[in-house]
Amino acid sequence: MHIKNVEFIKSAVKPDQYPPAELPEVAFVGRSNVGKSSLINLLVNRKNLVRTSNTPGRTQLINFFSVNSDSFMLVDLPGYGFAKVPLDVKKQWGPMMTAYLSKRETLRGVVLILDVRRVPSQEDIQMLDLLRAHDIPPIMVITKCDKVSKNERKRQAQIISKTMQVQESEFLFFSALSREGIDGIWGALEPLVNT
Ligand code: GTP
Ligand code: MG
Repeated sequence: MHIKNVEFIKSAVKPDQYPPAELPEVAFVGRSNVGKSSLINLLVNRKNLVRTSNTPGRTQLINFFSVNSDSFMLVDLPGYGFAKVPLDVKKQWGPMMTAYLSKRETLRGVVLILDVRRVPSQEDIQMLDLLRAHDIPPIMVITKCDKVSKNERKRQAQIISKTMQVQESEFLFFSALSREGIDGIWGALEPLVNT
């Protein structure tokens, strides 16, 4: 994918705050701090388009980005599973996500991001269930692959595959540090965002 330009459109909580549903859209989801914002930055070749942080729970709103002069949208979703996020933010998360996943007609797929070093959580499993329940194709990305050896990656992929009940062949391996996997992820996204 050739990225000519990318523009932050707006942040939203409720459907009436979303930008008009006019462009094909792909969203990114996963636990707090897993690397959602980093992945988006790498995909569009922009170091700091989306704020990344060592503090989990940095992204608390739905953030819409328009790519290539309104060809399609990328959407950064707030992460789940971080204890220290303020209670009011946590309470808002469920309704905010359910509304987005069930009501966004232009949503073509969701990239579900998992950490190569972790056993997926209940919330990861529930997220995949939620996507399937709404007929939203999941794109499964295993990130932070630079943090483990090739052997460890293999072992972890087996564990993640078992826990998520997803075939290992469905995983795309990625690292924001080495940039490994970018082409594969675009390869999965391109057919979804092509109008
Ligand atoms: P929230 O918005 O808080 O939910 O987090 P996020 O999922 O958007 O994560 P973010 O992209 O902000 O990254 C969290 C931390 O992980 C940052 O310190 C990143 O630099 C780091 N990180 C992200 N991806 C990778 C990766 O592939 N490899 C390594 N080594 N670090 C990464
Ligand atoms: Mg983020």
